[in-house]
Amino acid sequence: MIVVSNRLPWMVRRDRAGVPRLVAGSGGLVSAMAPVLAARGGTWIGGADFCGQDAQLAAELCAAGRRAGYELRPLFLDEQERRGFYHGFSNEVLWPLFHDLTSLCRFEPSYWQAYCVVNRRFAAEVGQAATPGDLVWVHDYQLMLVGAGLRDMGIAGPLAFFLHIPFPPPDIFMKLPWRRELLDALLAYDLLGFQAPRDRRNFTDCVRDLLPEVKISGRGEHFVRLRTGSRELRAGRFPIGIDYNDFYRRAAAPGVVREAAAMRRLLHDRQLVLGVDRLDYTKGIPERLQAFGLALERHPELREKVTLVQVVVPSREDIPRYRELKARIENLVGSINGRFTRPGGWVPIHYVFRNLAPDDLLSYYRAAQIALITPLKDGMNLVAKEYCAASPDEDCVLVLSEFAGAAAAMAGAALLVNPHDVTAVADAIATACAMPASERRARMRRLRRGVRRHDVFWWVDAFVRAAIAPSGRPSGEVAGMPGALPPPRRRRRGPGEGNEGAPLIR
Ligand code: UDP
Ligand code: G6P
Repeated sequence: MIVVSNRLPWMVRRDRAGVPRLVAGSGGLVSAMAPVLAARGGTWIGGADFCGQDAQLAAELCAAGRRAGYELRPLFLDEQERRGFYHGFSNEVLWPLFHDLTSLCRFEPSYWQAYCVVNRRFAAEVGQAATPGDLVWVHDYQLMLVGAGLRDMGIAGPLAFFLHIPFPPPDIFMKLPWRRELLDALLAYDLLGFQAPRDRRNFTDCVRDLLPEVKISGRGEHFVRLRTGSRELRAGRFPIGIDYNDFYRRAAAPGVVREAAAMRRLLHDRQLVLGVDRLDYTKGIPERLQAFGLALERHPELREKVTLVQVVVPSREDIPRYRELKARIENLVGSINGRFTRPGGWVPIHYVFRNLAPDDLLSYYRAAQIALITPLKDGMNLVAKEYCAASPDEDCVLVLSEFAGAAAAMAGAALLVNPHDVTAVADAIATACAMPASERRARMRRLRRGVRRHDVFWWVDAFVRAAIAPSGRPSGEVAGMPGALPPPRRRRRGPGEGNEGAPLIR
């Protein structure tokens, strides 16, 4: 299996002395794929975020991949390519567009040119690494043209693509000046995977509107089939999961439990409400802060009784919108704290701006009685799943945006909210704080069961089986296909894993 993504599991950051060091990459794609590659092996081709002339760093990166159990092949971009392809087309066109934020898009023709060039470079790198029969699995919006590039090079397949972010509805997608080219390029894959039913539906609606010559069949089934000329491909939904057992096990480590208890003591055993997000305008952080402030206003009984810890992980700070967002968050935190802080005691919002060490993140998860996860739109939101997996006491509540992909499976057990409705979010915070223990436990138990059953290994097995199944096979057969894949090299089973959580293939 050859996995291709723009982000690799390690990126470079300078330490205080200015020395470049490899640190763990952030974001859901890396969190999901790192355990998959470590378990199955394979090759991971990805963009390095440093210059190719730094041979020592490159060697360290490849060695880190080998230690983790797979081959890592970095692709180096020059500054101009990065600006047009990554900052430009990926993050100032596709990212806002696919999250329905058209007003933030900058439809610069030079960005599109850079996107095409860099996608071709990725395709060439894959072409060099692939041997006949390899499954090439391309990930996410930065690399949608790679499949078409590989077909142009004569690579016959199988080629699969998974979109980690939402796919927009036609009225939004239509705004893209290169809409036909992009959609056409996606049809070069054999399998397209989406996070949620809405995304696959939006995609097929766009194909219907823009490419009426494509025949679509199988509506309502797990897969739809798209026939274009003599080729057939399938599009399905594969909601991504997390390495449940890993979170479960690490959250139970004595150090994490101790740290979580210390955190609660420091907050004088007030209820801890937690937000964890990359710095991103799709995450609804300002709206959430406003909702928390409003909760304190509308429900005075919460004052001095709850504390919001908002962790923001630095991200894409070279893009002006992200810097503006950071300033806005800091402003809001300051004004809410200024209004409600009591001298010598309670500070309503604790703001943490950094990439946390894994155990620190787990301690926050374990210490929090309420997770407040309110993106304006999100492909899935793995933080929601990680929070459940890391809460073995089950004595906690998940407040979740109805526009996160995770909501499709978590509705009913999480408290779902419209993140734009700050009054409703404020009231949901109060409801969560007052929820009886029996209800908290019942809801969290259901959530954890779902996260455990549909973990990241379930996801990868389902996707890879579908990708290597002969085109046109009915969906039911694909889902139940006996072990056609080579077994993963290692697979840790966890104490929380029952039969229902077992992977489809060992
Ligand atoms: N995360 C991280 N560093 C932190 C806090 C969180 O790397 O300090 C991880 C978190 O564990 C999760 C990922 O970042 O796996 C965020 O994924 P999510 O799907 O929630 O959102 P994305 O960032 O992909 O939009
Ligand atoms: C989201 C995207 C990923 C991306 C991640 C972090 O999860 O779906 O493709 O890697 O955000 O963003 P970055 O721009 O730092 O790679």
